[in-house]
Amino acid sequence: MGFFRVESRADGAVEIWTLDSEANRNAISRAMRAELEELVSGTRERRALRAVVLTGAGDKSFCAGADLKERAMMSDEEVRTFLLDLRRTFRALERSPKIFVAAINGAAFGGGTELALACDLRVIAPHAQMALTETRLAIIPGGGGTQRLPRLVGPGVAKELILTGRRVGAEEALRLGLVNRIAPDGDVVGAAVALAEEIAEGGPVALGAAKAAIQEGLELPLDEALELEFQKYQAVIPTQDRLEGLRAFREKRKPVYRGA
Ligand code: COA
Repeated sequence: MGFFRVESRADGAVEIWTLDSEANRNAISRAMRAELEELVSGTRERRALRAVVLTGAGDKSFCAGADLKERAMMSDEEVRTFLLDLRRTFRALERSPKIFVAAINGAAFGGGTELALACDLRVIAPHAQMALTETRLAIIPGGGGTQRLPRLVGPGVAKELILTGRRVGAEEALRLGLVNRIAPDGDVVGAAVALAEEIAEGGPVALGAAKAAIQEGLELPLDEALELEFQKYQAVIPTQDRLEGLRAFREKRKPVYRGA
């Protein structure tokens, strides 16, 4: 443990997880990956927690991708194991019922961009850059980049970015749909937390169900996807929160949701 700083906000509804390895620009080592997986799996049963903001220490880098110094010491087999572990970790994040917001505070290269892509939403600092630089290192994106990027921005743009490895600034990232928002200068975490808090006002069971419906439905033909939506809806029907939402509407007040 020790590769992440964890801070709580909004009475525990929002947490900020900071990749805390500034000296190597928050590159993902094996130990850091293992810690991220543990943190993600620990969130599932935490009812009060609604959203997580992921960011990097310092203002130079969100995450510089895989730890290339460690990589240089790894056998071919160890590289394969790392890729499979990374895939499982990012998938766990994507399958978590909590909402993940990446606060891209600086360079997000390689696995750094892939980590941001596995999050639900992305807020970027005006000076930050994103890139899938792997082909320039004679490898390919191995943390889901070849699959998540085309699903987000379409195959044409994804091919351009992956085949050139070129760096994209905040304005272009927004235009391409790579990120949701550009934060005011110097306050990317604040902007991401504000977004997370806005999300956290929704019904927690509903947030998880809506995330899963979008995520899983994207892979299905429309009729099956609509059936999936119906099934996910079933999860919210018996909740107290749904009744609280109706009561609060009638009483013209803010609802108080408990996640059940
Ligand atoms: N793995 C391991 N160490 C890394 C790293 C990585 N992915 N990225 C940066 N570092 C280390 C550097 O080697 C350097 O270490 P040193 O002080 O021992 O020399 C330190 O972090 C600072 O890096 P530096 O390049 O001087 O910082 P910068 O602020 O000028 O630039 C980046 C930061 C992220 C833009 C730049 O380091 C970079 O492009 N890194 C490679 C990112 C990449 O292509 N990742 C894809 C991996 S598949």
